[in-house]
Amino acid sequence: MLIQLPRVLSPDEVRHARSLLDQAPWQSGRSSAGSQAVVVKNNEQLPHDCEAARALRPMVLAALDRQPLFFSAALPKRVFPPRFNRYGAEANHYGNHVDSAVRYAPDSGQRIRTDLSCTLFLSDAREYDGGELVIEEPQGARRVKLDAGDLVCYPGNSVHQVTPVTRGHRVACFFWIESLVRGSEQRELLFSMDRALTALRTRDGESDEAVALTGTYHNLLRMWAET
Ligand code: NI
Repeated sequence: MLIQLPRVLSPDEVRHARSLLDQAPWQSGRSSAGSQAVVVKNNEQLPHDCEAARALRPMVLAALDRQPLFFSAALPKRVFPPRFNRYGAEANHYGNHVDSAVRYAPDSGQRIRTDLSCTLFLSDAREYDGGELVIEEPQGARRVKLDAGDLVCYPGNSVHQVTPVTRGHRVACFFWIESLVRGSEQRELLFSMDRALTALRTRDGESDEAVALTGTYHNLLRMWAET
C-alpha cells in the first residue's frame, strides 16, 4: 500500500527548509549506500550532523505528529531520524534498489526495521524535470512526483528508483518507519478499519456499534502489535 499525504509541511515550513538547505554542505550520497545500492546511487545527501539537518529534523517530526492519517496508516513505533537528499546536475538519479531491512540511527545506534519508506518532497513538481520516484508494486510500477510539503509512504521492501533529474533540482527529506505492526497485511486491515470507524463516528456519533468495533480494532492491534 502506498499512502500520499498532501501538505504535511506548510508553505512557510517549506520555505524555511529550502532556505537552510540551499546553504547546506551537500555531499555525495554514495557514502551511505550499501554494496548493492552504491552501484546505482548518484545523488547528494546532507551529513546527518550538519546544522541544517539538525534544525530541520524536529520540524519534520512535529509535522508528522499533526497527521492522524499517517499514524493510522503507519502505526509508527520508531522513526529513523529524517535525512535530506538532492538530485540534479551530475548527481541526478538513484537506480533500482531495495533499502536495507535494518538501519542504525546515527546518534543513538538504535536499530530500526524499515517497514515503511517515506519521502517528503521539498521541491515543487514544476521546479524540475524527471526525478520521479518509481515504486514497483505487485500491480505494476507507480510513479510518484508530488509538490513541496507532500509526503509519500510505501512498503520498505519494494524495489524503487528515482529517475534522472534533467532540469533543476529535486530536494527531499526521507526516512523510514518501524511499525508497531510488522506485517503489511495486518497493518492495511487496521488502517481500513480505522478509516471506516472514523466515518461511522462522523455520521452516527458514538453508537454502540462504533464502540464495539473500536474494541475489536484495539483487540486486533493488541494481538499484532510489538511494543
Ligand atoms: Ni531507497
